[in-house]
Formats: sequence, C-alpha cells, structure tokens
Amino acid sequence: MMKDWIKGVMKRLFVLVFSPLPKDVLRAMNLPDYKTSYNEDGLYTNHNCDFLKDARFQEAYARFMDTGSSQGWDMRWRLHTLLWAASVSQHVEGDFVECGTYLGGSARAIVDYVDFNRLGKDFFLVDSFQGLSEEHRHLHDYKEGDYFDRVRSLFVDHPRVKLVKGFVPDVLNTRTFGPVSLLHIDMGVAEAEVAALRFFWSRLSKGAIVVLSYYAYPVRNWKEIKAGYDAFARDQGVEICYFPTGQGLIVKVSEPATGRLLEWEKGMTSNPVISLDPELNVMLEAYRVSDPTFASSRYWEVLSRKNVEQLDTEGFENFKQTVAMNYFTFLVKVRDPYMQFLIRSLPAIEVVSGRDKWGQKWSSESIPLWGWRC
Ligand SMILES: C[S@@+](CC[C@H](N)C(=O)[O-])C[C@H]1O[C@@H](n2cnc3c(N)ncnc32)[C@H](O)[C@@H]1O
Repeated sequence: MMKDWIKGVMKRLFVLVFSPLPKDVLRAMNLPDYKTSYNEDGLYTNHNCDFLKDARFQEAYARFMDTGSSQGWDMRWRLHTLLWAASVSQHVEGDFVECGTYLGGSARAIVDYVDFNRLGKDFFLVDSFQGLSEEHRHLHDYKEGDYFDRVRSLFVDHPRVKLVKGFVPDVLNTRTFGPVSLLHIDMGVAEAEVAALRFFWSRLSKGAIVVLSYYAYPVRNWKEIKAGYDAFARDQGVEICYFPTGQGLIVKVSEPATGRLLEWEKGMTSNPVISLDPELNVMLEAYRVSDPTFASSRYWEVLSRKNVEQLDTEGFENFKQTVAMNYFTFLVKVRDPYMQFLIRSLPAIEVVSGRDKWGQKWSSESIPLWGWRC
C-alpha cells in the first residue's frame, strides 16, 4: 500500500519535472510513460500491446514466419488484426476467402489460431501461385516460381482449405462461392484487389469482415489501390477504417444478395452447357453489387431461371415458342389479320396446331415462311 503511494508521488514528481521537455527527447530517454511498446513495419507506439505476449498469438505468428511468406519482414500487428478478424468471422455464416496467399503464411496462421477444422467452413486460397503476371512484375517479384504444391503441403491436415489457382479476377468465375464471412485481400495489384472486393461484396454475409492488406500501405501503387477501394466504398455507402498498419477494415452490415440468385448463378456456372456471355457477366456483376433496395423480386428470379432452363432444354432456335411466351405474348383470334395471313399461306392444320407437317414445333428454320418478306 505504502509502496503504491510512494510510486504515485514519484510518478507525479517525474511528470512535473520532465513533461516540459519535447516529446522526442522523452522518447529518446525511453522514460516510463513514453516507453516504446511496438516499433515494427512502419508502426511505432507506446500503447499497450499485450496481444504480443499471448501464447496462442505467438504460436500462430511463429507458423506465419516459418512459411517464408513475409520474406523475413516482421509484421506482428498486421497479423494481429487479421487473426482478430478471423476469430470474429468464425461466428458469422459463410466461408473464409483469401485473395493473395503467396507461401501461405497468413492462411496458415489463421487456421491455427481459430482451430479451423472444427468450424465446418471452407477456406478458399486464391492465388496465381506463380507470382504476378508479366505486366505487373515491376511491382513485386515473387521469386519462388510455382509454389502451388508447397502451399498445398502446408494444409494436408485441413481438407476444407481449397487452393484456387489462377489470376484474379478471371479465376473467380471458374468457381462457385457461397456466402463468405471473412475476406482477406492481399495481392498488391490495384485492378485485382478492387475486382476481388467487387466480386465478393454481394456474397458477404451480414457481419462479415473484409481485411484489405494494401489499403494504405506504402507500396509503389498504393494511391491507385486506395483510390479504387475508396470509389467502391463511396458507391456502396460504406466506410473503410484506416489502420496504422496500412490495412483497411470493412464490416459488412447489409444483407448479402438473396440466396436464390446465388443458387441460380451456381447452376449457371456449374452447368458445362451454359456459359455466360462476358457482357452478360458484366451485367450480372453490376446487379450483384447494386443497392439491395433496388434488387429484383422473387418473381423475376423465378422467371429468369425458367428462361435459362428453357433455353437449355429447348435450344435457342425455339426461343419464340419458349422464352418469348413467358412475356407479353397474347393469343390472337382467328379473325386477326396475322391469323388470316397465316391461314391463307399455310395448311390450316399447321396453323391451328403450331406444328409443321412432320409434327414438329415450328422453329425459325422449319416454318415454311422462313425468309419470307412482305
Ligand atoms: C503479398 S503476397 C500474399 C501474402 C500472404 N497473404 C501472406 O501474408 O502470407 C501477394 C500474392 O498475391 C498474388 N497475386 C497478385 N496478383 C494476383 C492476381 N491478380 N491473381 C492472383 N494472385 C495474385 C501473388 O502471386 C502473391 O502470391
């Protein structure tokens, strides 16, 4: 008790005597109130960072460094942010996704820290696994050649960690993704970073967390990356939190796109017969990221599904008898000039049945009036 009292008095005296000194001098003297608690990776502070002493964090950090992903660069606070995000997201519906895995450091730390196998989630690791494309190689040169097998071997004991090899954004359309609860983007290439956020935005569950490793990080193209993210955030009406580590953080508070639309897309992408025209993909993407207030109702989703199924089973050439009939197609009466024209031009039985003389439904090619011009 007495000891505490003496300590308190000493502290007050200390502050009285030394506080007029410039802060830099106090820091340099490493005096108690200014003692550096963290000085690494461009971040200096004297604030409390007890997480550094946590055994679970220390273990995860050791695994992170063992992979060689950080190339020897210490970044404890950055990993702490990510592990915190993973530990929160484990309770939110959906899978984990990382775009930019390199040698698997951050992903390996996450699976250890949250004991991933017990979560019943998938963890998609998306990377070219061979560094940057030719056009972006000037930004960073990942020297390891093809590191797919090296990363896969890190997760042999984690069957639900799935490696997705290819370049973002194209590779994202080759896989089916369900709801997502954690999205870590760590590629360092502006177009790819923003495209990844755009792609996953509508798939993020309510409460999902996005960690942007390169939000305000001083890489050569950081302004471009940040401007892309800021524009996206403005469009979506969300705010990105700056972290002194250079990371950015977003918590998704709106609902994801309806499950039905995702299900429909899933059907589209998993059906080898149907592949979407790239322009339709762009439209679908715009729809996905649009404000949910203006999203279509269930009616339009059901109708779209029906259209796709009909095109798939009946073929595009029967469009008029299938998809077109789902819209404002009305029956014409016998006296209608259209019908009169057909009756004059074709055998009545074909007109009435809507089938040609071989009993097949009329198609644009089979109709005897094909190519006929008024
Ligand atoms: C900074 S490293 C990732 C580090 C990793 N998250 C970690 O902390 O251990 C960036 C990785 O992103 C990958 N990458 C960059 N642009 C990409 C793109 N467009 N598509 C796929 N991977 C890309 C690179 O190949 C590299 O492996």
